[in-house]
Amino acid sequence: MNNFLSVEDVSDPMILVKAAINLKKDPYADSAIGKNKVLGLIFFNPSLRTRMSTTRAALNLGMQVISMNVTQDSWQLETADGAIMDQGKAEHIKEAAAVMGSYCDMLGVRSFPTLTNREEDYSEELINAFVQYGSVPVINLESATLHPLQSFADLMTIEEHKRVEKPKIVMTWAPHIKSLPQSVANSFAQWMNAVDSDLTITCPKEVELSPDFAGKAVIEKDQDRALEGADFVYVKNWSSYNDYGRIYDDESWTVSIDKLKNTNNAKLMHCLPVRRNVVIADDAMDSPNSIIQNQAENRLFTAQQVLKTIINKL
Ligand code: CP
Repeated sequence: MNNFLSVEDVSDPMILVKAAINLKKDPYADSAIGKNKVLGLIFFNPSLRTRMSTTRAALNLGMQVISMNVTQDSWQLETADGAIMDQGKAEHIKEAAAVMGSYCDMLGVRSFPTLTNREEDYSEELINAFVQYGSVPVINLESATLHPLQSFADLMTIEEHKRVEKPKIVMTWAPHIKSLPQSVANSFAQWMNAVDSDLTITCPKEVELSPDFAGKAVIEKDQDRALEGADFVYVKNWSSYNDYGRIYDDESWTVSIDKLKNTNNAKLMHCLPVRRNVVIADDAMDSPNSIIQNQAENRLFTAQQVLKTIINKL
C-alpha cells in the first residue's frame, strides 16, 4: 500500500482488519518504526476524531506530526490548471503540495466537497493533486467522496461485535439540518461490498447514492422493512447525489429505540459527530446497543495500522 485513498488501495481488507485487531492488543509494539519520520496532517475542514486519532496513531509509532488548518494558517490554494492567479488565491497546489511533501514523509489530507458541482467533486481533484505533486504517500482523511479511515474502523468494529458469520448490516439515511457529503455512506458501502457482506441501504428515493458505490447492496425504500432482522444499523445523513447537494428533510427517518424494535437486537453505529434528536434520538444513542464509542475508539487502531503499513513500504 503506497497511498490510502480508498479500499482499492488495500489488497485484502479483512487481513488489514485482523492486523488492526491484533495491534489493538499491544499498541506500543512498534513504537520505534516511525523514528525520524514526519506525518503532515493537512486540514481544509474541521475534524475532531480524524485529527486526534491519526495524531495519536503516529505518536504510538514514534512518528512526529505537523498539523495545519490550511484555510486559517496558510495561503488560499488555487487548483485549476492554467489559472491566472490575480484574485484571492496566493499559491498553487502544485507548489504547495510539493513543498509539504518535501517536509514530510507522508501527508494526510482532509478536503470536503463543494456540493455544488458533482463532476468536480467526484473527480477528487484536490487529493489527487497531493498524490501527483506531493511525491510522498497520501492518506485520505475524508475527501470529496470517500472516508476510508472511517470505513476501516467501521469494518473492524463490526468484526469485533458480530454474533454470526455474515450479519445483516443496514445503513439507513436519517435527516439533518445541513447539506452533508455522501463520503461516509459511499465509503461504507464500498468497503462492505469489498468484503462481500450482507448490506442493505435504506433511504428516500431523493437521496439514493451513486450506483458506483452502492454496488451489490440491497436497496430498500421502506425503512421499517429494511431494519427487520438487522444485526447492525449504521445511521448516517447524506445529501442528494442525483439533485446534487440538495438537502432532503424527512423527520420520520430519525432513528429511535422504537425504530429498532424489529431488528435482531441490532448494534447501533454512527461515525460522529451526530446531532442528537435530529439524526438519532437520545434513547437510541444512550442505549446499551450503541457501539458508537467503540467505533470512534477504533479510529485510533485502524489509523495506526494504515501508518504502519505505509512505513513498512517506505
Ligand atoms: N468521523 C469523523 O471523521 O469525525 P471528525 O470529522 O471529527 O474527524
